[in-house]
Amino acid sequence: MIDLTTRLSSLKLNNPTILASGIMGEDHGSIERMMEAGAGAIVTKSIGAQPREGYPNPTIVEVEHGLINAMGLPNPGIDEFVEEIKSVKRRDTPIIGSVYGSKTEEFVKVAERMNEAGLDAVELNLSCPHAKGLGLEVGSDPENVYQIVKNTKKNIDIPVFVKLSPNVTSIVELAEAAERAEADGVVAINTVKAMKIDIELKIPVLANKIGGYSGKAIKPIGVRCVYEISERINIPVIGVGGVTNGYDVVEYLMAGASAVQIGTGVYYEGAEVFSKIRNELKQWMKDHDYNKITDIIGAAHI
Ligand code: DHB
Repeated sequence: MIDLTTRLSSLKLNNPTILASGIMGEDHGSIERMMEAGAGAIVTKSIGAQPREGYPNPTIVEVEHGLINAMGLPNPGIDEFVEEIKSVKRRDTPIIGSVYGSKTEEFVKVAERMNEAGLDAVELNLSCPHAKGLGLEVGSDPENVYQIVKNTKKNIDIPVFVKLSPNVTSIVELAEAAERAEADGVVAINTVKAMKIDIELKIPVLANKIGGYSGKAIKPIGVRCVYEISERINIPVIGVGGVTNGYDVVEYLMAGASAVQIGTGVYYEGAEVFSKIRNELKQWMKDHDYNKITDIIGAAHI
């Protein structure tokens, strides 16, 4: 018997694949579809205190080995989000609410509302690569990360995960700050700052000019960050970036991740990517005499 279960603090996942924030985690219908497809947990789209329109089009461009996007954190705001979440009928798969904000009080307020609404955990998005005054701009200073996490932890009783950016001098220092503030886990990595230029029009393709690069190309960056972080902290690390198959999951687990998130893989292959990845992971474990996920976690630390 192959046991795919894994733990993230008090959350128990029946398999280590998680839907990443920003894709198909917007309404109750898409959330339920991802649960049916077998995701071990779901991260919602990032939600703020107020509704937000996001940037004008184009907001997404396909490039070699992935996507660059700059959506601008469009979302209905926490009031409408809470109503939407009430409509999710299936509750056998943990739902992790992604939170963005410009200051500590905003993170706390949105996280509290998510806690009250019955979500299973929150993921603080301290790493959106381009929104002015949000994301990376609040999440690149360890002291800021500490304050936001500490205050959020004080006010809610569900686990707090912290999603970090690779677009910084030291992602490890940020992870250490999150651990000091008693975060329940860190998520690495958010997208990598990038740009695509249309050489005929001589202009950047995205309306926001700069966006975040995701997909296959960023997997080695994600694996490196997870490896470095897990050498230095003792709370769970969740890997994300470029996962499209079961072998990518094994690689992140060996780097030290306790679970992995999938975003671009869902964009390209749809919800079926979850069962494909699970089957490949199971087969690989069988072939290599592993019967528990926990035996693979951190195996590459030598
Ligand atoms: C957006 C937010 C992110 O955190 C990210 O990595 C990429 C894009 C956005 O909404 O624009």
